[in-house]
Amino acid sequence: PVAVGCVAGDAESYILFCDFFDRVIEAYHEQKITSQTPESDLNYDNLKGGDDLDRSYAVRCEVSVVRGIEDFCFPTHCSRGERRRLLTLARQALQQLEQELAGRLLLLTDSSQEQQSELNLKAPTSFQLRIGVARDWPDARAVWVSENRSLLVWVNIDEHLRLVSMREDANVAEAFQCICISLQKLEKYYRGLRHPFIWKQQLGWVTSSPANVGTGLRISVLIKLQHLPTHKHLKDVLKRLRINMDKTDSPELYNISNMATFGFTEVALTQLVVDGVKLLTIMEKRLEGNLSIDELVPAQK
Ligand SMILES: *[C@@H]1O[C@H](CO)[C@@H](O)[C@H](O)[C@H]1NC(C)=O
Ligand SMILES: *[C@@H]1O[C@H](CO)[C@@H](O)[C@H](O)[C@H]1NC(C)=O
Ligand SMILES: *[C@@H]1O[C@H](CO)[C@@H](O)[C@H](O)[C@H]1NC(C)=O
Repeated sequence: PVAVGCVAGDAESYILFCDFFDRVIEAYHEQKITSQTPESDLNYDNLKGGDDLDRSYAVRCEVSVVRGIEDFCFPTHCSRGERRRLLTLARQALQQLEQELAGRLLLLTDSSQEQQSELNLKAPTSFQLRIGVARDWPDARAVWVSENRSLLVWVNIDEHLRLVSMREDANVAEAFQCICISLQKLEKYYRGLRHPFIWKQQLGWVTSSPANVGTGLRISVLIKLQHLPTHKHLKDVLKRLRINMDKTDSPELYNISNMATFGFTEVALTQLVVDGVKLLTIMEKRLEGNLSIDELVPAQK
């Protein structure tokens, strides 16, 4: 797997050390940084399909987005005091969200092991320990959970904020819509609290990892595949579709996600994953019938 191998301590680092970070960003996202402002599109109505994935293959999906909060160092470098102030801000913003979407904030220090595993929260990884985001764990870490579980908001876990929408019905359109709506609301509330989300000219939204600049958006779908993972054209197909395919704990389940977060709008990134999953499913079906997929290999996106 491709990893960036570095993180920023604060947003200013991207400007101060741009000679370094710009190269990392361009290499990871396979996209040139230009003087143009990155385009954004959170209008979920522009997404074509996504509620129509073949359920015999697609079993689960997850859309998540990360944001940094202006005036604070990233979790890789922030002090304990900053982290606690970020939690206070999150509490204020999320209280406003609760007026429209019922939910509650759960502090990691107050939550049981069962609650944490139910929310898919794991102990810090060795990578997280190395890059500093796990300092003082679990102090000032929290998860906000909507009552019907459609939305999770991680506070100070790996970034200042991470919104997650998971669905067992693999309905990417619904998950994407949930993220777009909640993200825009939180953006408004944070701006009202005079700590907007961190946005940089030319780069778009930035957080500690160069792997997430631009949109901060990850769309992933778990699909059942048997034949395609060993096919000789697989690497080429994934590269051209601009998607990743990662192994999971179960042998026949693969995690398909967007390769880059920079250089495409939010809708375009989601479209890449939706269209990619559909094509991979068609290929898998052809391989099941012993048919060739040579003529289905797409052009570079
Ligand atoms: C797929 O992998 C990404 C990281 O590469 C992870 O964030 C996501 O949760 C995984 N998706 C699912 C549906 O498990
Ligand atoms: C959760 O509630 C929100 C707001 O009422 C609604 O839009 C959404 O469809 C619900 N999601 C689920 C999974 O029930
Ligand atoms: C595909 O080929 C395999 C091995 O050659 C054979 O066992 C299987 O029945 C074939 N499947 C179809 C659908 O023709």
